[in-house]
Amino acid sequence: MSARKRLGILLSGRGSNFVAIADAISGGKLPGAEIAVVISNKADAPGLAAARERGLNAVAIEAGGRKRAEHDAAIIACLREHSVDLICLAGYMRLLSPEFVSSFPQRILNIHPSLLPAFPGLDAQRQSLAYGVKVAGCTVHFVDEQLDHGVIILQKTVPVVDTDDEHTLAARILEQEHVAYAEAIARVLSNKYRIVGRRYLPVSET
Ligand code: GRF
Repeated sequence: MSARKRLGILLSGRGSNFVAIADAISGGKLPGAEIAVVISNKADAPGLAAARERGLNAVAIEAGGRKRAEHDAAIIACLREHSVDLICLAGYMRLLSPEFVSSFPQRILNIHPSLLPAFPGLDAQRQSLAYGVKVAGCTVHFVDEQLDHGVIILQKTVPVVDTDDEHTLAARILEQEHVAYAEAIARVLSNKYRIVGRRYLPVSET
């Protein structure tokens, strides 16, 4: 049996997507993966505490006034030290430097709470409601040099109902995020998909 692929999780806050990934692994839904390290740019991130409680390697690497490239270099070093194969951004609220992105080509994933390319950036759920969409959702995508832009791995939709506010909509989307992230990781680790242009397609068996 081949070795498990080692995930590096980057988060800044609550960490519910990290917990969903960790639960998928401990529940046997991601047999090809293990979490090598959880890194946060915020020492007090609840997600980092949750990682520690689970006995995982949990490391705070704060920017501390350093330039982005310098801060990212420290994170890259930590990821390499833990022999990370795939990086999952899970509510990581900092833009990655071009050096970071090019250090791990097609090996950084992000989850965003809208159906990209609609509503990139902050407060996607609020943007969705304000625009008046009737269907919302989440997107797991590869990270490239542009914000919320890389090749889409998968998306899940939810209805927007008339009584929604940003909190009810965010909660409905979050439920789907927790399913989507593990599915997307499984897809990437399966080696059964490839990027064709901007499309992420199953490799034909023939
Ligand atoms: C999620 O909505 C995710 O889509 C966005 O940031 C939020 C992180 O939530 N990128 P959590 O920290 O995983 O609970």
